[in-house]
Amino acid sequence: MSNENFYITTPIYYVNSVPHLGHAYTTILADVVNRYQKLIGNKTFFQTGTDEHGDKIAKAAGVKGISPQELTDINSKRFKELLPVIGATNDSFIRTTDKIHKKAVSDLLQRVYDNGDIYKADYEGKYCFGCERYLGDDELKEGKCIDHDKEPEVIKESNYFFKMSKYWDELKSIIDARPELIVPEGYRNEVMGLLAQNPTDLCISRPKSRLEWGIELPFDKDFVTYVWFDALINYVSGIGYPDSIGFEDKWNNSHHVIAKDILKPHCIYWPTMLLSMGISLPKQVAIHGYWLIDDSKMSKSRGRVVDPVEYCETYSRDVFRYYLMRGMRFGRDSSFSFDSFKDLVNAELSNNLGNLYSRVVGMCKKNTEGLIPSEVNYQNVDRELLDFSKSFLEKTKIHIDNWQIDDYIGEIIQFCDSINKYINEMKPWALAKEPGNAERVNTILRTSLEGIRISFTWLSPVVPDKAKKILEEMGVTSDSENLIASFNNQIFLQGNHPLPLKVQGFPRVE
Ligand code: ME8
Ligand code: MG
Repeated sequence: MSNENFYITTPIYYVNSVPHLGHAYTTILADVVNRYQKLIGNKTFFQTGTDEHGDKIAKAAGVKGISPQELTDINSKRFKELLPVIGATNDSFIRTTDKIHKKAVSDLLQRVYDNGDIYKADYEGKYCFGCERYLGDDELKEGKCIDHDKEPEVIKESNYFFKMSKYWDELKSIIDARPELIVPEGYRNEVMGLLAQNPTDLCISRPKSRLEWGIELPFDKDFVTYVWFDALINYVSGIGYPDSIGFEDKWNNSHHVIAKDILKPHCIYWPTMLLSMGISLPKQVAIHGYWLIDDSKMSKSRGRVVDPVEYCETYSRDVFRYYLMRGMRFGRDSSFSFDSFKDLVNAELSNNLGNLYSRVVGMCKKNTEGLIPSEVNYQNVDRELLDFSKSFLEKTKIHIDNWQIDDYIGEIIQFCDSINKYINEMKPWALAKEPGNAERVNTILRTSLEGIRISFTWLSPVVPDKAKKILEEMGVTSDSENLIASFNNQIFLQGNHPLPLKVQGFPRVE
């Protein structure tokens, strides 16, 4: 049983568009890991939110003919409203337009300025409005931004710069010394590759003459803060930096979950900013790949989008979460398709898990008047089945620590396979036909039910609604204390608890 702090964040999403599959994925991933950490007894804190300043937002508002504040209010709400739909149980939702955030940004800028780490200079560069930053030539393909497939605009202006270069070597040695800081390893190598290039400084301001929608620099009223310097600070402002009690506890155990598109800001800008600010680095930045549709990037203009709300409402958020978690290998890209969704849900949730449950309840109806068997006498073969789950904590913890939720789920599915196999071998239906076998039949059914209890407890971070329902049907009220006890095998099923007459596993997707 753990009793540690665990702080997890998602990127704060741009409010120039509406939430899509990619946003839902990252948030669900963070939620699953957060729920797991809670289940093993840790004190968790989960933050998500919206990124609301900058060119992109100002432009999007301009197109709609409304003010940036109006646009961000409308769109931030849509991100916030997505959370209960996908089952995210975040503790905090931060907006970069929140007062407390703006104050933290202003204070930290002043500190970095006072340290002598900010200077003013003229700059001409290739600016990508999609990325909201100047791009280096290595980030262009045939003169276009690789991510946005658009030619950057050449912009020349006087601006403030953060001396990122000053911390370049220190960052390199930190990453060298802490292999767990950036995972998976491929992305860590990518960051080391970026750091092998010449050190650069970071432009952190925009003249108000060009952009007013931002946080004013505390040391020059003619400028606003560059959106990334503003946004990254959410990770500390949202947990009450610097004054709040418990800040250190959370921050020392902080995990940023992001996709590969924002590797550079998170693994180079942010840590160098923190070094200048005198704040320790996060514990981990965990980077996942992209969900693709038909093997290429999601694109609204080309009609390749998946609406997470539609999936959750049509099929249930449990199965949507399950598919996303089971269907992506951490760090790699994955293709989203209705067919693979359908195949996975039907094979693993409807057939394997759901059938197992209704099968065992059906046998109880026949043999024990629908009650959880109470008169039992465990034999070795029964204990072995349940003992298998004792090594679960060890095994699954490794998968979760490595962000391999697909393997985590795989362990549980394998356990369900072994319960099915156990039942097939024990043949309680055959035993029941002969007199004198009641206790043996009871024991087999009870063992199977305990196995199902264990499976759904472990699966509860992924499919929280169904897990809650099935556990409650079996008499395990799923408040968190009970869930933790069930997880640790400290509680068992109550004999004679009535099982429902009709149970529903997971409906098939057609
Ligand atoms: O970058 N597959 O916000 P953003 C998987 N505001 N994940 C995807 C995805 C896809 N196809 N598309 C998007 C920003 N995501 C900044 C972040 S943080 C201080 C500031 C997810 O709205 C993924 O998590 O463009 C990615 O990193 C994020 O959305 C980008 O969201
Ligand atoms: Mg983006």
